[in-house]
Amino acid sequence: MPFDRRAVLAGAIGALALPSPRRAFAADEVARVDALIARMTLEEKAGQMTCLADSFRPFNPPNPQAGIQDEKRLAEEIRKGRVGCLFNGIGVAGARRTQEMAVKDSRLGIPLLFAGDVIHGLKTIFPVPLAEAASFDPAMAQRTARAMALEATAAGLHLTFAPMVDIARDQRWGRVVEGAGEDVVLTSLFAAARVRGFQGRDLRRDDSLLACPKHFAAYGAVSAGLEYGSVDISDETLRETHLPPFGAAFAAGALTTMAAFSEINGVPATADRELLTDLLRGEMHFRGFVFSDYTADEELVAHGFAKDDRDAARLAILAGVDMSMQSGLFVRYIPELVKSGALPEATIDVAVRRILYVKTAIGLLDNPFRSLDAQAETTRIATPAHRALARESATRSIVLLQNSGVLPLDPGKRQKIALIGPFGADRANLYGPWAFYGDPDQGVDIATGLRAAMADPALLTVVQGCGVRDHIEDGIASAVVAATAADIVLLAIGESQDMSGEAQSRTVIELPPAQQKLAEAIAAIGKPVVVLLRHGRALALHDAVANAQAVLATWFLGSETGHAIADILFGKADPSAKLPVSFPWESGQEPFFYDRKSTGRPVTDEHQTEYKARFATTDNSARYPFGHGLSFTRFTMSDLKLSDAALRWDRAIEVTAKLTNSGDRAGSEVVQLYIRDRVASRTRPIRELKRIERVTLKPGESRTVRFSLSRVDLEFVGAGNQRIAEPGEFDLWLGQSSVGGLHGMFTLYVQEQGKG
Ligand code: NOJ
Repeated sequence: MPFDRRAVLAGAIGALALPSPRRAFAADEVARVDALIARMTLEEKAGQMTCLADSFRPFNPPNPQAGIQDEKRLAEEIRKGRVGCLFNGIGVAGARRTQEMAVKDSRLGIPLLFAGDVIHGLKTIFPVPLAEAASFDPAMAQRTARAMALEATAAGLHLTFAPMVDIARDQRWGRVVEGAGEDVVLTSLFAAARVRGFQGRDLRRDDSLLACPKHFAAYGAVSAGLEYGSVDISDETLRETHLPPFGAAFAAGALTTMAAFSEINGVPATADRELLTDLLRGEMHFRGFVFSDYTADEELVAHGFAKDDRDAARLAILAGVDMSMQSGLFVRYIPELVKSGALPEATIDVAVRRILYVKTAIGLLDNPFRSLDAQAETTRIATPAHRALARESATRSIVLLQNSGVLPLDPGKRQKIALIGPFGADRANLYGPWAFYGDPDQGVDIATGLRAAMADPALLTVVQGCGVRDHIEDGIASAVVAATAADIVLLAIGESQDMSGEAQSRTVIELPPAQQKLAEAIAAIGKPVVVLLRHGRALALHDAVANAQAVLATWFLGSETGHAIADILFGKADPSAKLPVSFPWESGQEPFFYDRKSTGRPVTDEHQTEYKARFATTDNSARYPFGHGLSFTRFTMSDLKLSDAALRWDRAIEVTAKLTNSGDRAGSEVVQLYIRDRVASRTRPIRELKRIERVTLKPGESRTVRFSLSRVDLEFVGAGNQRIAEPGEFDLWLGQSSVGGLHGMFTLYVQEQGKG
């Protein structure tokens, strides 16, 4: 008999178990840094805490203009030791010149840290992070992060402002594209994998790139998905949903993080001491340093939290921001704030110490010119191996949402293909919103990829049909002519890259009307239509698009877009990706995610929908659920077995099932394990993902997949913000998406003393 839940609740409460970082700092590093700090003036300390955009080698990331634009002034500041870090400049020669200013011309010669936004590639552009998460294969993300690190460090960078590990549950938010989607476990797995990939095994190596998991915290929870908006969130949701990916990234060795632009429950993250000090350092044991986001300290004034810039600098530092990005406020105000007694010098010393530890940890104090090797710059960037990896990862990121059987296309068959839509021959939107170092001319567009795969490229006709947002003269008419003459139509439609990313929140997550109109006109002809969606978020699809014979989610796939799409269309590769974000029926369902709550009035019978928790105009399910993704072969699951129907408190149970490839092609499936806690002291989601396993099988082959579950997997954040597990009954599903699957049940028991 299970124990009564309430009776054991108190005993079950444990400490908030977030993992602590792998690396503490060595005693000799500590001594060296302390000796340096003892020699520093207040101004030099403030300089170490200042990060400015590199105006010697300017790039154009999605940031407003701020900071020091004048090269001469910036050089002076560096020589005076008033800058500790430069960001978003690349190139070894320029970095050497700049590093020499810091090392040779400044009084203490402390090297600069070179940082940059290398989000999904430097020159070789890999799929946007959301696309890559669709591979449901963190090992793939680790490999691409390693390749990015090889390129970024060869271009003179020491740190990337990545990975973004924000959970994104509202697809109106433009930055969904930068993360791993809506799920906590998936995002945590990708967070850790990316940190490991960026940093490699040894931080001191020339090709190790420091990671900066961001934005701390709950940046994706902005109300209505409005970028830079406010977050109003319970402690439980913050801890259970938004912090674990950071915990995973820190446990994987990340030594920096970035405070979010947004406010949480009335306090801007940049000035939130409970968040940046008590929680981040006290509870999560973070040992590295905290960047502000771009001018976010200065923005405390606009938030209505600081009375002026001086106050803003003071509040950010007291909260736990160590490095100010781009506003220059720290270097401007710290000396006076300390002298006037408004800021204790000891607080400044702590921040400087953290920054210098990180510089020491990557060997920068010993070798200021690490990662500044002109030879590496010519051999390690845009290599054929990286290009091949970009194709592999892009192929693995494409999700087959539906297929009436029209795909794969037979490469041997002489068929006329009409490629229609604004993205058919377009190179400006291959990379996505965060790849500003890449050269768009080096990307393979869809038309080029298809031609390379076709025995007779003359059978391909390419027609634009319409612009991304606008009609073009005779556009639809020429598209209709091409479609009528073709055997099959590929419709390349979706979002341009400036429709997602920073500051690109949308109220409606649908195709622009001009493109929908094009799709309707093409569908009316009656030829088979394959939709190739380009997008940085989940979309609400309608009518001709949703009813097409096949639909593929192709996101922004990077340098090898066209080849990867052709690989899938012609069946050279089997689609095996899964959705990391749910596609709703309607925009108005957002925020929408699979692990929602039951409510008191769930819809249990589709025929009885009155007075139930649903929208009057649409069912509150997904058009394509989280975890969904088809293959060209067919997988079936059977023989679900649990080693025991009772999970004892300190034991584990083993869950197994047989996966069979019952189709006639080889393919890969991602088996997903979900649970539901039936009754708990806090209502629990209708499903929660706990495990994933990718399995590749030949036609007719079967394999037993095996998972182990223990009490820790059943924990949630309960009263008093403690992680607890509660005895009782749990549902379990082993399936191919977050809907359906083989169902089982088990009961968590409290183990009696001395037994078990
Ligand atoms: C603002 C973005 O929020 C952040 O993610 C990025 O790293 C900085 N700009 C620097 O470009």
